[in-house]
Amino acid sequence: MGLGKAVKRFLDARFDTALYGELISKQIHKRLTPHTGWLHVFGSLSLLLFVSQTLTGILLLMYYRPTPEEAHKSIQYITGSVHFGWLYRQIHAWGATLMIATVLLHMLRTFFMGSYKKPRELTWVTGVLIFFCTITFGFSGYLLPWNQVAFWATTVGTESANKVPFIGPWLQYFLRGGDAVTGETLSRFFVVHVIILPWLLTGLIAVHLFLMRLHNISTLEPVGEEKPFKPEHGIPFFPVHVAKEGCISILLLAFLVTLAVVSPWEIGEPANPLLTPPHIKPEWYFLPSYQLLKYFEGTYGALLGIIACSVPFVLLCVWPFLDRGKERHPKKRPIAVTFGLIGLVAALFLGYLGHISETDQTFFGKRYHISLKGWPEAIDDRDKVPSSDVH
Ligand code: HEM
Repeated sequence: MGLGKAVKRFLDARFDTALYGELISKQIHKRLTPHTGWLHVFGSLSLLLFVSQTLTGILLLMYYRPTPEEAHKSIQYITGSVHFGWLYRQIHAWGATLMIATVLLHMLRTFFMGSYKKPRELTWVTGVLIFFCTITFGFSGYLLPWNQVAFWATTVGTESANKVPFIGPWLQYFLRGGDAVTGETLSRFFVVHVIILPWLLTGLIAVHLFLMRLHNISTLEPVGEEKPFKPEHGIPFFPVHVAKEGCISILLLAFLVTLAVVSPWEIGEPANPLLTPPHIKPEWYFLPSYQLLKYFEGTYGALLGIIACSVPFVLLCVWPFLDRGKERHPKKRPIAVTFGLIGLVAALFLGYLGHISETDQTFFGKRYHISLKGWPEAIDDRDKVPSSDVH
């Protein structure tokens, strides 16, 4: 008897394998709603990147040391001496950025197609929690190489926590594990990054996928008026949708490896708490909030700034319970779509301002210095010596 048959007989004698086989086969051959297409691949791409982050993260953990003395050196060792260490470190660093991008694209797809409406409100809410976890993954991982940029970006980032009403000072102390960013902060961020978030995200993704399968993919028909589709009109999950996801996944992985090779992430100088580098900026996904906070000054201003940054996130969480209209098609939801577009353009604009602030830029052939708040000041005018000073 072959090994396969022996294993099957062993399992059959102990479990109801026919029942489990039937359940799995039902899921694999499930028919998805007829309009399921290329725009429906971003969820799976996010999942693929989560798996890739977990695998490369485990490899990094084999050599990484979470102490101020050893963290930076261990990353140098991984990059310089460990077989393929440079590659999986780069894949992990670029994978984080790409995962946030795919999660955002998936979120935009489900928002504009009204997929968050009844009965999928909780699928959306678990999605928003997943989004929070994903950006917290980025924030906590950023500090781990213990380089200058990471150290100071975390110092600035945790400083904003101080402005939260009532609990600000306590929150900042809690995040840092003390008054300043030290080895205690590194330990905390490490535990959050490699234990708390991976398990939390795994649980949330499991619930999210379960809910998605339970309700199937939404159609563009109004809530409560969805007509059941004939099985032969549905898109077979396997092989049709899986093939689409497979194609895009291969392209994504190729893109990821290309980025890793062509544009490697620097390890940077080791953290120096006594030397503040100029122009510390956070990662691109925090740039909109970072820029927005700059427009609010003084005690009350800072409080308003925190409120202004939190409102979009709170709105995201409760959005399915605010938008109770029946329509799903974007053309029939002008208010929700306009709202979403304004939010998207504002985030892109603020992010761009944050990116170019405190730099010199050329627009239409003229040089400008972009101030902290993003106002352009013509460099020629700024540098011109006042006429009264000319002798
Ligand atoms: C790691 C992150 C995530 C993974 C792995 C994931 C996975 C998936 C998958 C595989 C689907 C099936 C259809 C599709 O891909 O479009 C789906 C559906 C859905 N997801 Fe996500 N998702 C993630 C994050 C999010 C986020 C951040 C949101 C929104 C805040 C969200 C909201 C939804 C909704 C509402 C659906 C139902 C779509 C429909 O029925 O048309 N997901 N998710």
